[in-house]
Amino acid sequence: MLQRLWARLGKSSPQPAQPLSSDNVPQHVAIIMDGNGRWAKNRGLPRMAGHHSGMKAVKHITMAADRIGVKYLTLYAFSTENWKRPKAEVDFLMKLPGQFLEIELNDLIANNVQVKMMGYKSDLPDYTLDAVEEAIKRTANNTGLILNFALNYGSRKEMLEAIKDMAAEVQQGQLTCEAIDEDYMSSRLLSSGIPDPDLLIRTSGELRLSNFMLWQLAYSEMWFTDVYWPEFTEEHFYEAIREYQRRARRYGGV
Ligand code: FPP
Repeated sequence: MLQRLWARLGKSSPQPAQPLSSDNVPQHVAIIMDGNGRWAKNRGLPRMAGHHSGMKAVKHITMAADRIGVKYLTLYAFSTENWKRPKAEVDFLMKLPGQFLEIELNDLIANNVQVKMMGYKSDLPDYTLDAVEEAIKRTANNTGLILNFALNYGSRKEMLEAIKDMAAEVQQGQLTCEAIDEDYMSSRLLSSGIPDPDLLIRTSGELRLSNFMLWQLAYSEMWFTDVYWPEFTEEHFYEAIREYQRRARRYGGV
């Protein structure tokens, strides 16, 4: 677990202020990390300062998720729509995975975390892709928390590509329509092999999905907070988990 890192930093790992039930921890938590820009603006800082602080929150929440036994943590780091932002901001955001991994990869490895990426690799600059691929390669045999970066990810594109590929295969006689069920569709998405999120968290007060995991979130519990991502702490994360543990998931049943 990531306790060792905290020990090395001379810090005791922040445990939940109120107890968490250990037998109903969500297996997969997905997070829309929003509010970096507003956090920075409120402090008279450039937006990039918000993204930089957001990177630090990634580390804290990864630790917290690992500590309580979450198995998959998916973080929406860059959407297929984020290319519309000013070039300087896009360039900055593209450098963050490399910066994060340069600082954290050794500790992620030491703590048995496996890094994955969910998104379209071909549009990413080499320096982004190289850093992520190196992390994926070096953590491939780790068996602990799976830290899944949604990077250049868009859910509608993901579904359209899957549908087009399947249609072509049906046309060529390699696939039958009857074989396409929910599990098969899931297996053709970028999240293939990863179970659907149990819990979605969105920070910053926005109440929308922003093209994030639209298929996979069909039965996920959702938790929204007004807190901006850079100030989202372990205790906020535990609060979301406690709320999740109070909910009854019925999947359309009674
Ligand atoms: C949305 O906030 C945030 C993003 C588009 C980028 C999220 C990226 C990080 C939190 C850092 C990622 C770190 C790693 C390690 C990849 P916004 O900028 O849209 O905020 P605003 O809505 O307040 O303007």
